[in-house]
Amino acid sequence: MKNKFPNDFFWGTATASYQIEGATDKDGKSKSIWDTFTHTPGKVKNNENGDTAVDHYHRYEEDIELMANINLNSYRFSLAWTRIIPEGIGKINPKGVDFYSRLIDKCLEKNIEPFITLYHWDLPQSLQDKGGWANRDITNIFSDYSEAIVKNFGDRCNHFITFNEPQVFTIHGYVDGYMAPGYKDLEKYFASIHNVNVAHGKAFQAMKSLNNNIKIGCTLNMAPCIPATKSSEDLHATKLFDTYWNRSFADPMYLGRYPELLIDDVSKHIQQDDMKNIFQKNDFIGLNHYQHIRIKADNKSLLKARGAFNDELPFGLDGKDAKLTLMGWEIVPDAYYDQIMDLKNNYGNPNIYLTENGAAYPDLIEKNGEINDTDRIDYFKKYLSAVKKSIDDGAKVKSYFAWTFMDNFEWALGFEKRFGIVHVDFKTLKRTPKKSYYFFKKLVEQNSIPFDF
Ligand code: FCB
Repeated sequence: MKNKFPNDFFWGTATASYQIEGATDKDGKSKSIWDTFTHTPGKVKNNENGDTAVDHYHRYEEDIELMANINLNSYRFSLAWTRIIPEGIGKINPKGVDFYSRLIDKCLEKNIEPFITLYHWDLPQSLQDKGGWANRDITNIFSDYSEAIVKNFGDRCNHFITFNEPQVFTIHGYVDGYMAPGYKDLEKYFASIHNVNVAHGKAFQAMKSLNNNIKIGCTLNMAPCIPATKSSEDLHATKLFDTYWNRSFADPMYLGRYPELLIDDVSKHIQQDDMKNIFQKNDFIGLNHYQHIRIKADNKSLLKARGAFNDELPFGLDGKDAKLTLMGWEIVPDAYYDQIMDLKNNYGNPNIYLTENGAAYPDLIEKNGEINDTDRIDYFKKYLSAVKKSIDDGAKVKSYFAWTFMDNFEWALGFEKRFGIVHVDFKTLKRTPKKSYYFFKKLVEQNSIPFDF
C-alpha cells in the first residue's frame, strides 16, 4: 500500500545509559566523565545529575514491558563502559555484563531487537585522566572494549553502533566546554577527531573478526547548515561549521578522506594506514537529526563559527510561522528529508538507520492524569512524513528510533526538557504513557502514519 513503510522496518525508541540508568556507583561501576562533570558545581542546570536518573537500572523490566505493549520491535540503548570495564582497560566486571545480559534477554523475550551503542559519551574517568580522546592510545583501548562487547553480547545481538554523535562530544567536550569533559582546547579537539575516527575503524575490524554476521555502523548527528544572514562572513562560517559538524566523521568513515577545510588541522595526527583503517565497509550509517542549524561567524568562538541564537536572527525564523520546540529548536521537516537525501546522494546510497529524532515539550499532566502531548504527535507526523518521502525517493531507510522512550536527564540541561513518549515523575519515578505513546502503538500496528490520531 502506498502509505505503508517497508515490511521489515524497525520501529523503536532510543536511550543512553547515563541519561536513564542511575545506580552510578552500584555493582562495581566506576566513575565516568559525566559523573565528574555533573558533580562539578555550575556545569549543569540547577546542578542536577544522573545519580538516580530514572532508575532504569532497577526498572528495566517494567520499561521493556511498556515497549512491548505497543509492539515496538527494536530498542536502541547504550552501554556504560564503566560498568563493563570499570577502569576502561583490563578487568571485566561480571556484574556489569550481567545487567546488560538481563536487559538483552528481556528484549529478546519480548521480540525486541536490541541495537547497541558502545559509546554514548560516558568515558571512564580513568581514561580521561590519561588524556581521553585526545590521547591516541585510546584507539586500541576502545577496540579492546569493542571486542569484550562482541564476546559477551554478539551471540544475541545483531546491530552495533560504535559512537553516538562524535561531533557533539568532541565539539562540546573539547571546543566550547559545554559538555564533559569541559575543555576549550583546539589542539585536543583536532586530535580527538582523528582518534575517534581511527577508534571506529579499529573497533569495526576487531568486532567483525569475532563475528562477521553482526552489522556495524556509526551514528552521526547531521543537519543542513544555513547562514544566519547573507553576509560573506556568515557564508564562510557556514562552510566551516558544516565541515566540523557534518563532515569530520562522515567523510573519513564513509568516503575515506577528510574534508578539505579540515585536512591541515588533522594531518599531523595521521599515521600510516590510518585512512585505510578508518574507511571500512560499514553496514549502515546511523542518523540522528533534530533541526537545521543557522550559522553565524564569530571571532570569539574557537572555531570562528557557531550556531546562531534565535534572538540574533535579523529576519526572524523564516517569517511568522516558524515554530520552536521547548529546546528552541526549529521545526523543519524538509531539513530532515534533505539530510536523508544528502546521505543517499553523497555517501554512496548507504543503508540508513534513523537512530534519533524527537521533540521536547512541557507536557503538563491534566487533572484526569492524562498527558495530551499533541504538539509532539504533530511533530512526529511531520517528521515521519519526511522519512516516508525519502523512502519513496529511493533512500534505503531501515529504522526509526524516536528520541526518546521516557523523560530523562538531558545532559547539561538537567531534567527540564522532556522528550519521552512516556512521562516520568522525577520524584516518584512513576512512568505514565503520554498520548504520543498510543500514537506509536497505532503507527506500528498499521505500519503507516496515523494522520487521524
Ligand atoms: C542528542 C543526544 C541524546 C539527547 C538528544 C536530545 O544529541 O544523542 O542523548 O540528548 O540529543
